[in-house]
Amino acid sequence: MGESNQRRIIRKLDLELFIASLTPQPTPQAHLEQYTTSEAIAANMLYLATYTNGDIIGKSIIDLGCGTGRLGLGAAFLGAKNVVGVDVDRLAVKTAYENSEKTFLTENTEWINGDIASISGKFDTVLQNPPFGVQTREADRAFLLKALEVGSSVYSFHNHPEVDLKLVKLLKNQDFIQVSPSPFLEQFISKHGGYVKAVYSMCMTIPKLFSFHKKMKYDFIIDLYVIKKL
Ligand SMILES: C[S@@+](CC[C@H](N)C(=O)[O-])C[C@H]1O[C@@H](n2cnc3c(N)ncnc32)[C@H](O)[C@@H]1O
Repeated sequence: MGESNQRRIIRKLDLELFIASLTPQPTPQAHLEQYTTSEAIAANMLYLATYTNGDIIGKSIIDLGCGTGRLGLGAAFLGAKNVVGVDVDRLAVKTAYENSEKTFLTENTEWINGDIASISGKFDTVLQNPPFGVQTREADRAFLLKALEVGSSVYSFHNHPEVDLKLVKLLKNQDFIQVSPSPFLEQFISKHGGYVKAVYSMCMTIPKLFSFHKKMKYDFIIDLYVIKKL
């Protein structure tokens, strides 16, 4: 990737346009909760990680459950040193690789078709939007455990603990607000060697994707956990 990308601040709108240009999941599967992170939400995560916390530029990144590579490629676009993405879905990984070709980011990105359990090593920063456990109970726990095993800083999306229509309305007009962690996740993370530095609530909109979806689009609150390894 070009040196110039590492020196100048990339506008958030340009980051969103970059993410929007990537090919999405061709055949999303409900049991793997394969909905794509919207460009606005992915850009919120990446912007906080890059320009608030200094966790992307020049860093080694792993994108757990990378899907089509949106989070990892966004990090590479912002100036990550190298990015590894892993996903169980073969077609998603193929699409992630094609997305890296299309954006000229093959040099410092690598895409692995496999379960996150197969990943070892150490990375500066983990990016993940894990399955929330809507289809498979507690699916996000295995992602958190792996993230805390391999990463120093972790950016992880989780389901907001309650349905809050007022918050949805508020967050439709603003990027995010800082909230308290869920006591359960805070305890789980601390038990496994990390601490929650901050949590941000944001409103994610997803289009009708699966046969059980009744509406044309869904707005829901998603919480970004910023976690540091102790
Ligand atoms: C909510 S999607 C997010 C995809 C992508 N990171 C994004 O932000 O658009 C969750 C992804 O995790 C993958 N996944 C689920 N369980 C997995 C596992 N055990 N190992 C690796 N990937 C997994 C799914 O195939 C899916 O692509």
